[in-house]
Amino acid sequence: MRDTRLPSSSRWPYLGFALVGLLLAWPALADTKQAQPFHDDDADAPYKVWNTTPAITMPPLLLDVSGTSVMVEWMTDGDADGSVRYGEHALDHTAVAAHDGLLDVGTFHRVVIDGLEPGHTYQYQVASRRVVALRPYWPERGNTVQGETLRFTTLDAARPAAHFAVITDTHEKVSRIHTLLDEIRKTPEDFVAHLGDTVNWAASEQQLKDVFLAPTAEDLGGTVPLLYVHGNHEYRGPFARELGSYLHTQDGRYDYARDDGPLHLVAVDTGEDKPDDTNVYAGLNDLRDYRREGLARFGQALAAPRTRSAPFTVVLGHQPDWGWTGGDNAKWTELANQAHVDLFIAGHEHRFMHIRPGERGNDFPILVVGQDQVAWVEATDTTLKVKVTDSNGKLVDAFTLTRKAK
Ligand SMILES: [Fe+2]
Repeated sequence: MRDTRLPSSSRWPYLGFALVGLLLAWPALADTKQAQPFHDDDADAPYKVWNTTPAITMPPLLLDVSGTSVMVEWMTDGDADGSVRYGEHALDHTAVAAHDGLLDVGTFHRVVIDGLEPGHTYQYQVASRRVVALRPYWPERGNTVQGETLRFTTLDAARPAAHFAVITDTHEKVSRIHTLLDEIRKTPEDFVAHLGDTVNWAASEQQLKDVFLAPTAEDLGGTVPLLYVHGNHEYRGPFARELGSYLHTQDGRYDYARDDGPLHLVAVDTGEDKPDDTNVYAGLNDLRDYRREGLARFGQALAAPRTRSAPFTVVLGHQPDWGWTGGDNAKWTELANQAHVDLFIAGHEHRFMHIRPGERGNDFPILVVGQDQVAWVEATDTTLKVKVTDSNGKLVDAFTLTRKAK
């Protein structure tokens, strides 16, 4: 665990629970002074506050940044609420994790900060207060853990230049994440995009945390935001249906558009790579309609005025052939052609490919990033520079696109 400020009592995070257990087992102790709940955060709280403090087991991860908002995700070792204090010059605003009028309580915390200014830098600090017993009346609380004060910068469509890095298909290999992100964090990237297949299949919250969320959060240092793109392997496994709670955008989707300086970015969900009726899915997949809806949203995103006014439109997706669409693959390419898309960056193949315009009916280059590679993108008003390096920093490919008339 890194960079959390814990009171000394939290070195024994389960002390409070142990005391509770001891009291239940030995009622005679219940009246002694030692056995009284410890009031820490609020000495005058009219409800029980036990001397138990959460530990932060996953440091803050910034997800789905936009010009006016960002999501902050972190985890604790036991049930707690989640809040973020933030502000441009002081921690003078607070956002909480809540749904339908109730604060969220759990080990995973996800807070949306919105109402921000494009291109501004904000400081923030996460906090989680233990929930010991979630009773209908008189729930029992514990102490609060706070993370360190960190900083992030929102995207800004008006800035003159933009740069970001892309990785993909880390497939549960934590050392791969560390190698690639160690290199990326040496540079001041606006954000990092992960193009999917973070897992081989989704098994549990613990697995997602261990093989993707926590190492990524540690490496990005709570400062560089992550844009996540959905891969086909994230459709598989007993936890696949729960992944949206961790990886969806603020709008509850896996496809979105973002603007960063000269870049109009359109992220697409390329779904599965096999038809719905493939036997291994036993009739539990229903991608056909989902992909048709995705095609309609892709068309809407590309029809936005920004596609015409932005110097460059870059599509981010997992599968370079758009995945299994139920027969609509050419329609995806046609929409991209009509919108004069400048570049499509994908993964999935686990090897580098540079598919040139015309090779697959595409009017734009398709860059396929390999499993142990980083794509670096730099845009100005007039040029889009792309470079791909391997895990040793060795150059794999480099090219420059110039602004097209649109
Ligand atoms: Fe894949």
